[in-house]
Amino acid sequence: MPMMSSQRSATPRLLLLGGTTEARQLADALAAAGVDAVYSYAGRTQAPRAQPLPTRVGGFGGVAGLCAWLRAQRITQVVDATHPFAARMSANAVEACAALGIPLVALERPAWVAQAGDDWREVPDVAAAVAALPAAPTCVFLAIGRQTLDAFAQAPQHHYLLRLVDAPLQPLPLPQATLVLDRGPFTVEGDRQLMLAHGSTHVVAKNAGGSGARAKLDAARSLGLPVVLVQRPQLPPRTRVASVAEAMAWLAAHRAALGV
Ligand SMILES: NC(=O)c1ccc[n+]([C@@H]2O[C@H](COP(=O)([O-])OP(=O)(O)OC[C@H]3O[C@@H](n4cnc5c(N)ncnc54)[C@H](OP(=O)(O)O)[C@@H]3O)[C@@H](O)[C@H]2O)c1
Repeated sequence: MPMMSSQRSATPRLLLLGGTTEARQLADALAAAGVDAVYSYAGRTQAPRAQPLPTRVGGFGGVAGLCAWLRAQRITQVVDATHPFAARMSANAVEACAALGIPLVALERPAWVAQAGDDWREVPDVAAAVAALPAAPTCVFLAIGRQTLDAFAQAPQHHYLLRLVDAPLQPLPLPQATLVLDRGPFTVEGDRQLMLAHGSTHVVAKNAGGSGARAKLDAARSLGLPVVLVQRPQLPPRTRVASVAEAMAWLAAHRAALGV
């Protein structure tokens, strides 16, 4: 049965920090369970997917803004299901929830692990990924999203294949680039064909984990292509779960603690 908002501050009300496939899956589960919850998007994409929950879009204004919003909305639990590379948002959530005494859990998908046949070079950050590419010109499938493209301007000798959700509003910082507009999840065969069509010789990706973006790594393995894989940023300690079912169990335990 749907839970209704009330004036009692202990009435459970959840903030779901989203922007990932897992957040969407959790939103489906929350909506099906009738949980009073708000889904939050950063607002990076022009047409974010519709969610089965009330949705807000845009930054909160740092830790102070997030604290104010959590208080105003009488939020009693927060699930951080942002992308593993959304380190600022995750750190802000840890700090704001600690300050307000609001239980927080991170829905954190396990990192990808190399398997037989993978040719991965793991690097700590995007700058190291640029340095890990060969000096001679190559064809790089640069599958890291829009926000960190600038770093690759340091290696303009390569041809870059970019796959983005939206067309960039600014000129690309890369002199030789082919842009493909598409939104995951992707398939291994689709990514194989994409790399073959563009003559990709290297792949650069972030170790996002999960299933929706894994296809490019499986495609690279099947084509024998080397992958430069950026490792995840460090995050403050926080309670973590690895699946939607675990997140729902965590939520139920905290609702029980509220006497619901
Ligand atoms: N980074 C990636 O590779 C990647 C990949 C796929 C999807 N995403 C999604 O894209 C969004 C932005 O990622 P990012 O790497 O730019 O994050 P970020 O660097 O950690 O966040 C920068 C700022 O964006 C705002 N923000 C981020 N996520 C938000 C959310 N879900 N709701 C409201 N505000 C949010 C916050 O602004 P204020 O400080 O003003 O609150 C945050 O301080 C995230 O929601 C993430 O799940 C990121």
